[in-house]
Amino acid sequence: MKKLITAVALAATLMCGTVQAAPMTIKFAHVVAEKTPKGRMANKFKELAEERLPGKVVVEVYPNSQLFGDDKVLEAMLLGDVQLAAPSLSKFSRYTKQLDIFDLPFLFKDMAAVDRFQQGPAGQKLLNSLEKKGLLGLGYLHNGLKQMSAFKPLRVPADAKGLKFRIQASDVLAAQFEQLGAAPVKKPFSEVFTLLQTKAIDGTENPWSNTYSKKFFEVQPYITETDHGLLDYMVVTSAEFWTGLPADVRDVLKKSLDEALAYGNQIAAEQAMSDRQKIIDSKRSEVIALTEAERAQWVEAMKPVWQKFEDRIGKDLIEAALQANQ
Ligand code: LMR
Repeated sequence: MKKLITAVALAATLMCGTVQAAPMTIKFAHVVAEKTPKGRMANKFKELAEERLPGKVVVEVYPNSQLFGDDKVLEAMLLGDVQLAAPSLSKFSRYTKQLDIFDLPFLFKDMAAVDRFQQGPAGQKLLNSLEKKGLLGLGYLHNGLKQMSAFKPLRVPADAKGLKFRIQASDVLAAQFEQLGAAPVKKPFSEVFTLLQTKAIDGTENPWSNTYSKKFFEVQPYITETDHGLLDYMVVTSAEFWTGLPADVRDVLKKSLDEALAYGNQIAAEQAMSDRQKIIDSKRSEVIALTEAERAQWVEAMKPVWQKFEDRIGKDLIEAALQANQ
């Protein structure tokens, strides 16, 4: 009897032509915790997209490198195994040289300057810099400025000499630490805590929200407020996936993403400050402020990195970034 009712219901549905296509699944993979600017932005995007495209789209967000680490995610995207990701701007080195600009030490005077550059013509053009590789940049997201941490206090560049620092896969970041006489070690984000805990490395550089949410402060007794470089993100998708979407769906997804990015960019600074305070309150790590003179030494020590990468990045692009400081 039950089978008969099901068959009748199915026939009726087919006759009325109301069989719904299964919703499309969009996988968004990232490597950080959920309570970070990137985690919160990705969840906001899911909320907005699913609310606006009910029954049409399901967004699955995979935080904490659950689906792919940043070393694999772009390859996976080109194979169609993930549709959205927001790797740090330092992780595109293999795909384009232009995005290396964001790793130049002490390039931007503050996050407002970063914002002006990213939202201005030069920054917007860079969203297309991955096109030849089959990837599209859909927008920028802030995390913020990076601090250096170690098992010993780092007050002047000489303090970093001889130490091993974990870095993201970027040649500019490697040059930055080499310039200090330190040894850069390129490792995926998911390995950083264990590397520090086992003392396989001596230090690292990260913005406050990553240092707090991944508990690096529990295994790094000293954090210096160097604010020497930027850790921001580009949301990327595969050109094949994006251009293959029905235009109306794509428009709603883009609008939802733009709103999620605006939200993420708005909360990033506030999250950085509150995570910084939580680290201070924990008393697990001492936060070291630099004097003007000490800071000037770090700027000076890292300056040669600019000359090294000037040709590769392009003088005009560096000039455009510097303009954003004014
Ligand atoms: C890192 O590897 O340190 C960062 O890129 C992680 C992230 O996504 O913030």
